[in-house]
Amino acid sequence: MEGPRSPAESEFPQVINFLNSSLREGAEWSISNEYPTALTSNNIHNIRIITDEERIVSHAVLKPLIVKSPHVIFKVGAIGSVVTDPSHRNQGLSTTILNSCLKEAAQQQCDVAVLWTNLYDFYRRLGFELAGTEMSFTFEAPLNVPAGDLRFSDENRVSPEAIHRLYSTHTVGSVRGAEDIRKFMGIPKTLVYTAWEKDGSLAAYAIEGKGADLGGYIHEWAGGTSKVLALLSWIQSRRQGPLTLISPRHCRNMVTQLTGKGAMVNEGFLGMIKILNFDQLTAKLKRAFRAEGVADIVFERTAGGVLFGVGSELFTLQEEGDVCRLIFGPLDIQELDMFSEAARARLAKVLPLPLWLWGWDSV
Ligand SMILES: CC(C)(COP(=O)(O)OP(=O)(O)OC[C@H]1O[C@@H](n2cnc3c(N)ncnc32)[C@H](O)[C@@H]1OP(=O)(O)O)[C@@H](O)C(=O)NCCC(=O)NCCS
Repeated sequence: MEGPRSPAESEFPQVINFLNSSLREGAEWSISNEYPTALTSNNIHNIRIITDEERIVSHAVLKPLIVKSPHVIFKVGAIGSVVTDPSHRNQGLSTTILNSCLKEAAQQQCDVAVLWTNLYDFYRRLGFELAGTEMSFTFEAPLNVPAGDLRFSDENRVSPEAIHRLYSTHTVGSVRGAEDIRKFMGIPKTLVYTAWEKDGSLAAYAIEGKGADLGGYIHEWAGGTSKVLALLSWIQSRRQGPLTLISPRHCRNMVTQLTGKGAMVNEGFLGMIKILNFDQLTAKLKRAFRAEGVADIVFERTAGGVLFGVGSELFTLQEEGDVCRLIFGPLDIQELDMFSEAARARLAKVLPLPLWLWGWDSV
């Protein structure tokens, strides 16, 4: 057995073959088209494999992302395509490979690692916890939002620059170039819906589907809320079956409007998160608090856990997962009744930090 290590350039096709046969059997496309910025030879130094007699038997990929938010610029290590050949399972290979990815992410100054899975217990053993927030809205009854002057299209050949311009108006999201958007638009089973103003400018877009995942889900969207709603209404009028929109909780206007329209609301987690560079992350947090006029925030590792609080109101968090859920949600500061009302108000100025990744960034 050899590894974990990065594949050589010449092994890249073999890596993709291994992933296609183990994760995408029967698909009409290659998994590398689904994750064009992660499963690419440009990211080969962040791919990890284990081989047995020159055959790949285990794999995971790390995709570091810069995520901007109003208070903090994060570096996030997204991890995906975690798989071990059935003949080599339960020997610790994925655990070893994931630890190698986490080490690499920490060395590249990632504040946290994020992954999307339903194997909660497997990842909890590696220190991940369900954290952050995500809201999804399913509407079955017609939205009936008037189109006004907007013209709608489901034509995929939209300028990536126009999408990028609207994407960049989001307050929270990964830093992307128009070239990244162009690659994402080519993902199999990705539908690009757009709303256009009379003058030909892009008013809103909504993206549904992503390879084997997210069919029936609008996982990316941007534009003024009323324009996105008009676009959703148009998409809904042309299809059968329910449509679901995924939204970060901090998009208050969208959340309020959709709730008001009787959508079925589901509150979930952003994903499973693990803090990688505690000191770096808490230094960013403290800076964010200082910018809000709160200079006496405490976030320190101690023998018993993490000492957290403001001024003289301090409390120890024992579980690593609780620290994550406090920083990124869903833990509600207002429910922390060990703090005075005044302390809670000060903590809530920054916490929870609105960490968010739009659908195309998931790996
Ligand atoms: C999930 C998956 C990646 C795990 O791969 P793996 O190489 O078997 O993982 P590990 O051996 O590190 O850990 C698996 C189990 O073996 C146990 N284990 C770990 N090291 C071990 C060792 N040295 N000896 C025996 N067992 C061990 C772990 O405790 C774990 O137990 P669990 O089944 O209760 O969770 C693999 O089953 C797989 O490829 N599944 C299909 C694809 C998939 O679902 N991927 C996850 C996407 S997020």
